[in-house]
Amino acid sequence: MKKLVVFTGAGVSAESGLRTFRDSNGLWEEYDVMEVATPEAWHKNPGQVLRFYNMRRKQAIEAQPNAAHHAIVHLEKKYDVHVITQNIDDLHERAGSSKVLHLHGEINKARSTEHPELIYELDHREMKLGDTCEKGAQLRPHIVWFGEAVPNMEIAYDIVSGADIMLIIGTSLNVYPAAGLIHYAPLQAKKYLVDPKAVNVNDVKNITVLKEKASTGVEKITEELLEEL
Ligand code: APR
Repeated sequence: MKKLVVFTGAGVSAESGLRTFRDSNGLWEEYDVMEVATPEAWHKNPGQVLRFYNMRRKQAIEAQPNAAHHAIVHLEKKYDVHVITQNIDDLHERAGSSKVLHLHGEINKARSTEHPELIYELDHREMKLGDTCEKGAQLRPHIVWFGEAVPNMEIAYDIVSGADIMLIIGTSLNVYPAAGLIHYAPLQAKKYLVDPKAVNVNDVKNITVLKEKASTGVEKITEELLEEL
């Protein structure tokens, strides 16, 4: 089976009703990143950080996978599909994708501030100050904040470097190191990008760009890829 790596950003969940970050009406227009998504914010005002992620957890729970998430699942019929996502929602999993790697954490998990190996499923619960791990330390959202290392990056490089095909969906490619992943794909790998806006991939060889929404763009590529074999 050919290895197909699907790399997604907030745009793949946009049609499920989850806001992107940098579009007009994006989340970072309403919220100051520095106040809600950094270690400094957590130290200064943990209650505010928890409220921000409680709000996003509620929205993610209410959202449903859209046509793009489902199309990615169909690709598993004929390809060894690996989803690498920058998203913290679980819409890929709920659609049925079997291999999903989250680069920026998961909204439905909490982690101990003192013992990072202690990670808990939240089961859709809200988080509050005073929620602790089994060793008594405060829990924090299991999210990679700005300024923090991205622990799954090495695994992602490994997956991408073996790709026959790479499909990139709904990301502005602004945030590193995730945005640099595409450069780890073999030169000869066939690449596709689906995004309604112009994303800068001028330096990427062998890439087909579909300037459209994820729902329609991914369905087209899926049909093409399933016919090819
Ligand atoms: N279909 C496909 N793409 C879409 C759609 C849609 N319906 N709607 C918007 N987009 C595109 C936008 O054009 C944009 O290029 O999705 C992209 C979203 O870009 P960002 O808001 O920058 O989100 P993303 O690239 O995922 O951000 C990366 O930044 O804030 C951090 O940790 C956060 O994981 C996130 C990271």
